[in-house]
Amino acid sequence: MAFPKNFLWGGATAANQCEGAYNVDGRGLANVDVIPHGEDRWKVALGVKKMTDFEAGYYYPAQEGIRMYEHFREDIAMFAEMGFKTYRLSIAWSRIFPKGDEEEPNEKGLQFYEDLFKECQKYGIEPLVTITHFDCPMHLITEYGGWSNRKLVTFYERLVRVLFNRYKGLVKYWLTFNEINIILHAPFMGAGLLIEDGVDPQQAKYQAIHHELVASALATKIAHEVDPEIMVGCMLAGGATYPLTAKPEDVWAAHEMARMNYFFIDVQSRGAYPRYALQQFKRDGIEIVMEAGDTELLKENTVDFVSFSYYSSRVAAGKEDGENETAGNVFSSIKNPYLKASEWGWQIDPLGLRITLNELYDRYQKPLFIVENGLGAKDTVEPDGSINDDYRIDYLREHVKAMDDAINLDGVELLGYTTWGCIDLVSASTGEMSKRYGFIYVDRDDQGNGTYARSKKKSFDWYKQVIASNGENLD
Ligand code: BG6
Repeated sequence: MAFPKNFLWGGATAANQCEGAYNVDGRGLANVDVIPHGEDRWKVALGVKKMTDFEAGYYYPAQEGIRMYEHFREDIAMFAEMGFKTYRLSIAWSRIFPKGDEEEPNEKGLQFYEDLFKECQKYGIEPLVTITHFDCPMHLITEYGGWSNRKLVTFYERLVRVLFNRYKGLVKYWLTFNEINIILHAPFMGAGLLIEDGVDPQQAKYQAIHHELVASALATKIAHEVDPEIMVGCMLAGGATYPLTAKPEDVWAAHEMARMNYFFIDVQSRGAYPRYALQQFKRDGIEIVMEAGDTELLKENTVDFVSFSYYSSRVAAGKEDGENETAGNVFSSIKNPYLKASEWGWQIDPLGLRITLNELYDRYQKPLFIVENGLGAKDTVEPDGSINDDYRIDYLREHVKAMDDAINLDGVELLGYTTWGCIDLVSASTGEMSKRYGFIYVDRDDQGNGTYARSKKKSFDWYKQVIASNGENLD
């Protein structure tokens, strides 16, 4: 069936996973730069091993990414060739404010994104911009304690004022924080949060979350003041949560797990802390310090649309059976016996996307935007240079069909779809390059060796035809 006339088909990337040029044109160091490849990656991402600078003996894949800082014109031309209507990217905060607390922004950083947005404009591609995709300037972490400090709201405010004013007319769609719920699972990677020894982690996380929620509402307010045309969205690491069985305890566990994630969007989209969360905080002894005016700010500045990433559904049970756990997007979940999984153990569930779309739409009644979805897989370059990624096409086709059903059979309002890693980039969870998502292959290996040349995979032409037919031709 038909997709809406102005449906925004496209692809998504994040600054730290593709730009490289980590110290070029005045860019400052950020948390995302110092998360190494290799066995310590997760310890650092979680903040268990505190790393605030590069250390000898480690390889840091974000230093080079896929060198998009140099290649962006070529990359955007290839996106345009596929017919992209939108391109989701993120701003590296430390390119704009290298330390984070300066009064004046770094002009070279601002110019880089201006050039990039104008390049998009040349092809009629609408940028969809994530203000922070996991990154936080390192100086804000070492000097202020990152998001645990209320001052971060002021620094973030400074950042967004600069962005909205400078890019007025160039960017209409903004997202405040990528996968805001990831802070619960990987606080250092997700938000530059290092929890001090002796501090209760839940207390520290929820206080930091409050600051992010206030910053997000403030950004929404400022965006609308600067330009009423701007649409601001929140962004959730999404995925419906299923109970392992029909046992009421399992159903309740699934309900609780889902609410742990919905909590963020409940605040950003409905405008207030939900009662279940307040009760939970009371039970757990969590006390959130709020300032006068926070409640009103949250209430009056809810988001215009709800965006989310979707890779898989999740499974919960009353009593978890650790042996049955499976991998997936930082969350550990119980294995669903009915689903197949990717090479990295992420379970594949297209119907779960339809369920997720319906759950979010029922709950928030706001337009939705799928801003990440895709299959991380190893690709083989044939002797003639071709890459036959039929597995990726199959994955995407089934998810596009699920979107179609959600729109046309269920009435869900969906603004667009940006597949994750439309060009191969560094994996967030593993730091590998070999976990590839793209329609465009990048010649680089897990250690950063390669020519960084770009080439088309089979899925490139497939997606081009999907977009040209507005989702009708999926063969
Ligand atoms: C999302 C992130 O969690 O999943 C991306 O927003 C990330 O940054 C994507 O890359 C896919 O995860 P991974 O670990 O396969 O790169």
